[in-house]
Amino acid sequence: MDNPVLIAIIPGDGVGGEVMAEALPCLDWARNRGRSLRTRHLPCGADHFLATGETLSEATFTELRDGCDAILFGAVGDPRVPDGRHAEEILLRLRQGLELTVNFRPCHAPLPGAGPDLGIDVFRENTEGAYCLQGTTEPGRAVDLAIHTEPAVRRLLQAAFRHAAAGGRPLTLAHKANVLKHGHGLWMRVFEELCRDHPSVAAGGMHADALLCALVQKPTAFGVIAADNYLGDLISDLCAAYLGGMGVAPSLSWAPHHPFRCSALAEPVHGSAPDIAGKHLANPVGMVLSTALLFRHLGWESEATSLESAVAGALAAGARTRDLGGTLDTATMGKAIRDRLP
Ligand code: IPM
Ligand code: MG
Repeated sequence: MDNPVLIAIIPGDGVGGEVMAEALPCLDWARNRGRSLRTRHLPCGADHFLATGETLSEATFTELRDGCDAILFGAVGDPRVPDGRHAEEILLRLRQGLELTVNFRPCHAPLPGAGPDLGIDVFRENTEGAYCLQGTTEPGRAVDLAIHTEPAVRRLLQAAFRHAAAGGRPLTLAHKANVLKHGHGLWMRVFEELCRDHPSVAAGGMHADALLCALVQKPTAFGVIAADNYLGDLISDLCAAYLGGMGVAPSLSWAPHHPFRCSALAEPVHGSAPDIAGKHLANPVGMVLSTALLFRHLGWESEATSLESAVAGALAAGARTRDLGGTLDTATMGKAIRDRLP
């Protein structure tokens, strides 16, 4: 028997637990098909923080890093922790500490009947830039540093180039090198070097402001979009809106250079949505599609495809939660998806 894949489960806050409850049966389904996997549930989130004062202890972080293969993550953020400290110390610590440089956010077929397939895959650098968490607040002055390093920029761009080359798709780098001369200047230099190494990829840079305008005017004209952490955060939310909203957008972060045993984290793009938490209104589609991305990362292609087809089938049959104008609650939507699994 193979060593089972160990997947850490972190539901987190708000709707995180409700959508995670619809992903867990998908893991059982993969297991019943013969995939060897085990889960380990971790209580990280606002409840745990408020009860113990602990966000992500060093012991838990080390256990995740060295003792698990991947993480399935719900969402963090809770109004009882107004400065969002625990969210930063859990989610950003995991992204950075596990060196999950590549954050992949695919934006493909929108809801049936809602428009053409955008065919956009966002590659967002996930560990540094404006998210380096270094800065100061002084009287009358505040500083947030943005630190970009060549290894991370190169890893992110290499992954984006490889993906574009494999799919025969164009690649656009979003940047503001006209203003951010140092940081985005580095991005441009590495990008131009990789352009020379990948002559088959139609690649070009675009100022991020003009790119956002073009994304609204002609969203199908893109393919793969690469961006730093901050711009990628903004671009991926705009792209999610085309899919039908935040509730349906998936993401997978991974470490292409495999520095640790734990090499990936799957999480929906939506947050913890405290306003609808506990009301069974959350859309589980983003979470289920993120689980499919994790299956693909593990090499379980047929399970990934089946899960994606089940979601597409449920939506095509009219299954919808409230955010998409339907009436289904979270669990009924989850079941409508699972009923279509082979
Ligand atoms: C995302 C979220 C996070 C981010 C927040 C919750 C810190 O918006 O995953 O896109 O800004 O990266
Ligand atoms: Mg975001």
